[in-house]
Amino acid sequence: MKKIVPLVVTILTSFSLMAQPTWSEDIACIVYSHCSNCHNDTGIGPFNLMNYEDAYANRYSMEYDIANKIMPPWPPDQDYAPMAHANVLTDDEIALFQAWVAAGAPEGDPMQAPEPPVIETSEGITDPDLVLTTELFTVPSINSDLYKCFVIPTNWGEDKYISGIEVFPNNRNIVHHVLVYRNLTNDPIIDDQNDPEIGFECGGSIEGGDNDLIGEWVPGSRPWIMPDGTGIKMQDGANIVMQVHYPDGSDGQQDFITLNIKFSDSPNPREVVQDQTLDHIADIQNGPLFILPYETKTFHEKYVLPEARTFLGVAPHAHLICTRMWSFAIKPDGDTVKMVNIPNWDFDWQGLYYYPEPIILPAGTELHGYARYENTADNPNNPNNPPSFVTLGEETEDEMMLFFYSYLYYESGDENIQMGGLSHPHYNNCNEQSVGLNDLERETKFNLYPNPIHADQLYLEINNSIQGEYDLEITDISGKRIWTRTCMNNCEIILPQHINNGMYLARILQNGQTISNTEKIILMR
Ligand code: HEC
Repeated sequence: MKKIVPLVVTILTSFSLMAQPTWSEDIACIVYSHCSNCHNDTGIGPFNLMNYEDAYANRYSMEYDIANKIMPPWPPDQDYAPMAHANVLTDDEIALFQAWVAAGAPEGDPMQAPEPPVIETSEGITDPDLVLTTELFTVPSINSDLYKCFVIPTNWGEDKYISGIEVFPNNRNIVHHVLVYRNLTNDPIIDDQNDPEIGFECGGSIEGGDNDLIGEWVPGSRPWIMPDGTGIKMQDGANIVMQVHYPDGSDGQQDFITLNIKFSDSPNPREVVQDQTLDHIADIQNGPLFILPYETKTFHEKYVLPEARTFLGVAPHAHLICTRMWSFAIKPDGDTVKMVNIPNWDFDWQGLYYYPEPIILPAGTELHGYARYENTADNPNNPNNPPSFVTLGEETEDEMMLFFYSYLYYESGDENIQMGGLSHPHYNNCNEQSVGLNDLERETKFNLYPNPIHADQLYLEINNSIQGEYDLEITDISGKRIWTRTCMNNCEIILPQHINNGMYLARILQNGQTISNTEKIILMR
């Protein structure tokens, strides 16, 4: 609820002067574009949100979940590192929803309401080169969550490049997620043979050295389409392994998984690599990954890029007692680039997130990853009560710390890669009017001196205390980001040589929000 309270007050006062928000004119658009694709007859949401009556009946729980940012589920912090196609509500939309409930959730004129959305159950890749399905599977009664792995050997007779992959369960009511991996060993075939049932049970985790993520389905996800001329390499004979999470209570229901695959038609495709760039064995700095009962511990991973890479997306991965995961890069010139932040890690809502634009990082860039684990009795996701020893391992009750990155080896021109082909549903921002922080008085003032800057070295002084880390961002006068440096307290700064002389703007951000005035700085070296 941070930072929302003053906005609510502003909005409530302005609405009491204006008309009250109504379902038809204000709320229906928000619900239809952000909630209905899961909350419908065939979706995974526990109730429908397809008309006014549905929304009125659930208004209080909706308000609670919206205000606390539990719904719509979108784990990445968009303020830290924005991801493409995010399903998030703006602060204004949240405030509007609250004002609507406070006003008694009126319907308004039904003639003004938008049509309920037609729920897309049709496929996103309509002309696949290959369709693969698993056998029909009946979920047994086991009174717990079931993680089932299905194996499909490829034997395509040659290496192929997947340029598009769409994964979907055929019973969306019961499937929580599907993670699709490429495995170049024979192990999954053996595991399959050793288990008398269809597929094999895979205790929550099949990631590890041999499994590279190549596709995924979570509620609301869409096909992965690689940029033109690129694809995920499938070596001849590679196995496709799919892990499906059937939650407790799915007993007796049936499902099978479909994969729609497009192959690259480029004569010489570039390989999209999706690997665990930050790995809990090779890259951990304060390992081993081991958390004592009642201990809260943050682990750090670091990897130095041996060559320049063009990053397309990221998929963090941990298990149950993890509570936060984040990653950033520090370029050789000290520029900090934020890669991803999952402030409330939730094992049930994981995914691969694409960047709105490719992120290019030169050789020598340090890639850092952090994950916090709370092995306490207060952590509601702790599978052990009382807490017990947790170590790195394959079972769901064990832990992991992986950052899968999706990237290309950099080639010049990658700056122009269009990520638009990575289609996801488009979410409307229904309430365009902008009130809020931009218009509020900013409290933090700062001094950058000397200014004009004649040397490389300068000092940043903050007039009031900021809790924790903050960012100094330098943009050109059109607002394009040039360089960011993360600081604590007052800070000494060495400007990189590549910033040319001229006029720039500097401001202070915290959690992606501007919290200071903007200062002009002049560089005359
Ligand atoms: C990606 C799919 C998805 C979207 C989008 C989504 N929900 Fe949900 N919702 C779920 C699922 C699944 C649950 C069941 C709880 C869980 O598993 O986390 C749920 C639970 C809820 C609950 C809690 C019900 C309870 O019993 O406590 C509320 C309220 C809710 N959703 C409201 C909304 C609203 C409002 C929106 C849009 C702003 C929305 N949801 C968008 C999937 C979704």
